[in-house]
Amino acid sequence: MRILFIGDIVGSIGRDMLAEYLPQLKLKYHPNFTIVNGENAAHGRGITEKIYKSFMTQGVDFVTLGNHTYGQREVYDFLDEDIKMIRPANYPAEAPGAGMKIVRFNQDKLAVINLQGRAFMPTIDCPFKKADELIAEARKETPYIFVDFHAETTSEKGAMGYYLDGRVSAVVGTHTHIQTADERVLPQGTGFITDVGMTGYYDGILGINKDEVIHRFLTSMPVKHIVNEQGRGTLSGVFIELTKEGKTKKIERILINGDHPFIGH
Ligand SMILES: [Fe+2]
Ligand SMILES: [Fe+2]
Repeated sequence: MRILFIGDIVGSIGRDMLAEYLPQLKLKYHPNFTIVNGENAAHGRGITEKIYKSFMTQGVDFVTLGNHTYGQREVYDFLDEDIKMIRPANYPAEAPGAGMKIVRFNQDKLAVINLQGRAFMPTIDCPFKKADELIAEARKETPYIFVDFHAETTSEKGAMGYYLDGRVSAVVGTHTHIQTADERVLPQGTGFITDVGMTGYYDGILGINKDEVIHRFLTSMPVKHIVNEQGRGTLSGVFIELTKEGKTKKIERILINGDHPFIGH
């Protein structure tokens, strides 16, 4: 089982980077399954049905989300449909959408789980205990279990990696938008990276226009985050190859940065 995962797609530059580079990445890695984190795909806040469908048309197999899941009101009902997109599992049960789905791939099945951290994040249920619950359910059906842990701190993400080591195939971190260089296979065979990084505007701050962010740090005043629609792009991802037993054989970071000009639209 070969999995390609692309980190948080931010706005139209992120979507354009995916469209431009996904075909090349597929030729290089031959993934059986391609997952993207789409929590920032619509102008940095959430995702729309139209964007989800365009991802699917381009060859994405599954979409994970995060704290911006509910950024676009129009997606609420859509999240409850039978779609290949999940939101963090440790949100209250009343929140639209599911936090784990088990998808078929030829004769195999892959369980995809999305969890959200609690350190410096909104108060929700315990992601560790929710993980225990979902893994018990998933393991009845498949040894292939992929976890996107959407969290702020490196420590909480490291704790989740080791907590789940040997019980899931891979734990990849998302949310901080900066790729960490610590990809590795943990002692019991779980592939891990603290943060995959984001896919979007290269010359901004976490994919957002830098001027407003700097203004906020200088003045402590609230600002409206603007997602640039033109400029150089970056794409961050990870490729993971699993054994038949559902352990990680290989984990490789992917980073295509803006060294060459890329014009959105
Ligand atoms: Fe994000
Ligand atoms: Fe996030």
